[in-house]
Amino acid sequence: MEYWNKGDRVGVDLKDYSHWQGAGPWRDREQWLKLGRPHFRMYERLCLVTSTKRPLRRAVEWGPGGGANAIHFTDEVDEFCGIEIAQASLDECKRVLSEAGFESFRPVLISAEAPEQALELAGSQYDFFLSTYVFELLPGKRYGERVLSVAYTLLRPGGLAIIQIRYDDGSERSRQKNIDYYRHAARFTSYSIEEFWTLAQRIGFRPEYVTLVPEHIDEYAGDLYAYFALVKPGSEERAREK
Ligand SMILES: C[S@@+](CC[C@H](N)C(=O)[O-])C[C@H]1O[C@@H](n2cnc3c(N)ncnc32)[C@H](O)[C@@H]1O
Repeated sequence: MEYWNKGDRVGVDLKDYSHWQGAGPWRDREQWLKLGRPHFRMYERLCLVTSTKRPLRRAVEWGPGGGANAIHFTDEVDEFCGIEIAQASLDECKRVLSEAGFESFRPVLISAEAPEQALELAGSQYDFFLSTYVFELLPGKRYGERVLSVAYTLLRPGGLAIIQIRYDDGSERSRQKNIDYYRHAARFTSYSIEEFWTLAQRIGFRPEYVTLVPEHIDEYAGDLYAYFALVKPGSEERAREK
């Protein structure tokens, strides 16, 4: 999408918004590390809850930006794949991982119109799928559903996913904007908790639990975040369901 590649020409601080180390508030490396650390803890917890043996070998992130999540997985996985619509962010992610001594980053550039391209370009049989601070930026609920279906296919049976969305609790302020992307990118798409839960089920996931994180930075800005912990049922489980 134009915004994530050319937005800086009209004043969008793309490096800051894409969570690049050194940009805006991420000049402080500890602040930058703080972005992804809780997501790594969520991954650890989901492994524990599902009795999934660690370390997992292959992880994939949808919209890794400058690698603020990926940096926490360098001692955990053998391969980390990043699926992006911005080549500059893939380059930056690769750079910070390489600086940390991790050379097994797999950059996958897709066209924003076709999230399904990831199926051909990224391979399959991933153990873990992650996406944070991305679903609210997607251009609509239907698009999010397409990404969720791709996530399901990228995972192996028994694979795990953590996906964060901005949720709508029925209040005016939490409602998705869905208009004027340049003005409302970070609040463009929201789902109710039940809506995303049943969507994940419809696609085939087994939602394990959801963690709610209403943001209260300064005054309440209407940003309610939910992290869905999902499992792609294993072959035995699916056989039982039939
Ligand atoms: C706010 S940053 C989040 C970065 C990282 N996930 C994190 O939590 O630090 C959003 C990222 O999503 C990417 N992005 C936006 N739309 C996308 C899409 N349709 N598919 C994949 N990535 C997308 C942007 O290029 C940007 O790097």
